[in-house]
Amino acid sequence: MDDLLTRAKQVMPGGVSSPVRSLKAVNGSPLIVVAAKGAKLKTIDGRYLIDYCMSFGPLILGHSTDAIVNKIIDQAEKGTSYGTLTMIEVELAEKIVECHPAVDWVRFVNSGTEAVMSALRLARGKTGRELIVKFDGTYHGHVDSMLVKSGSGLATLGIGSSAGIPDTIAKKTLVLPLGDKDALIHAFEEYGDKIAAVIIEGVPANNGLLVQSHDFLHFIQRKCKQHGCLFILDEVITGFRLGLGGATEYYGLKPDIVTLGKIIGGGLPIGAYGGRKDLMELIAPLGNVYQAGTLSGNPLVMVAGNATLDVLRETPSIYGTLRNRTGRLVNELSGILMDKGYPITSSQVESMFWFVFDQPDRQIRGPSQVSKDAIANYAKFHAKLLENGIYFPPSAFEVAFLSLAHTDEVILETLEKIRKGL
Ligand SMILES: Cc1ncc(COP(=O)(O)O)c(C=O)c1O
Repeated sequence: MDDLLTRAKQVMPGGVSSPVRSLKAVNGSPLIVVAAKGAKLKTIDGRYLIDYCMSFGPLILGHSTDAIVNKIIDQAEKGTSYGTLTMIEVELAEKIVECHPAVDWVRFVNSGTEAVMSALRLARGKTGRELIVKFDGTYHGHVDSMLVKSGSGLATLGIGSSAGIPDTIAKKTLVLPLGDKDALIHAFEEYGDKIAAVIIEGVPANNGLLVQSHDFLHFIQRKCKQHGCLFILDEVITGFRLGLGGATEYYGLKPDIVTLGKIIGGGLPIGAYGGRKDLMELIAPLGNVYQAGTLSGNPLVMVAGNATLDVLRETPSIYGTLRNRTGRLVNELSGILMDKGYPITSSQVESMFWFVFDQPDRQIRGPSQVSKDAIANYAKFHAKLLENGIYFPPSAFEVAFLSLAHTDEVILETLEKIRKGL
């Protein structure tokens, strides 16, 4: 295993294909997985781990679900990429349009990042404006203009949060505090006629679970309308996670554009963006907003996405089951942790949850409210759980996901292991 890690580090930055997988944030080293089924991962050294990271969200039905795997095998025998229109692509688009209240038309891409990048281009193409408003503590993929943090003071244009982001691009993004209506009012007063779009995650879930109020989300929507800019709801995580209609339906919103990813690809690489027909008509080949992709609408991904959405559409009670199981796990786990004297705050939205090892019972609405102690404590918790056969997300800021494969028995097994192990 050490040997493989050494080899990985000789040919890949940090030995990984995405930074959080390094486990650096929890003082660990990359997990090497050889297989996965249901709720469990099998590591290269033959250990089984109950997985609460679930590939960061796509696997709502569990790992390696028969319904999906069989479809992928069948499709692979018929071809892996055609570079043409396919029936399965139309079928997946129809299902998304049928389920998602804000999507009249949809365009498939290959990642959530690409979906956001294209949605921003569409917003700029439509409005002829350049500025984008985002919020501190949200993540929208690694597109340059979204890897930006706030400048000093409110309503100042952003600065790059990664090397390699030109100032000219960072300055096209305004970064505001989450939940702060005054900041939004101020930004619109100052830059109103230059703002192309405001983008926010349905439930900000990339810096912990920073649940926003219904009121704040609707306030953003109203302000966008008032100032003639577009409201983009990033549903890469929340799409088909909070229900068939995502955060749009959950909060009763009417975004102009939504971005999707993760679940709609059934565990294969995907992204999508969609919205009102009059906006989507601006996309090439109909309109002059260009966007394309060699592997977009890839048939393997399309069958995996169709299989996933079929299960979710045929059995909508899955969402209630997932919510109840998640609630049970969160409550009982909080109880165990508190009995053992850990300060704990937990939050849950449907089948997503997050633990902060900090003062109990408070609502965390921004990333700055997570203390250094909480981050260090999470790293210890993570290591202890790993030792005991449980894999939690590898950062204090990543949220955990439940899948349908996390049955009552799996949850009991988890609680038992944690009770004994901590
Ligand atoms: C809300 C949100 N938007 C965009 C992205 C980027 O998606 P991808 O990693 O597929 O590029 C993510 C990824 O976690 C996300 O959570």
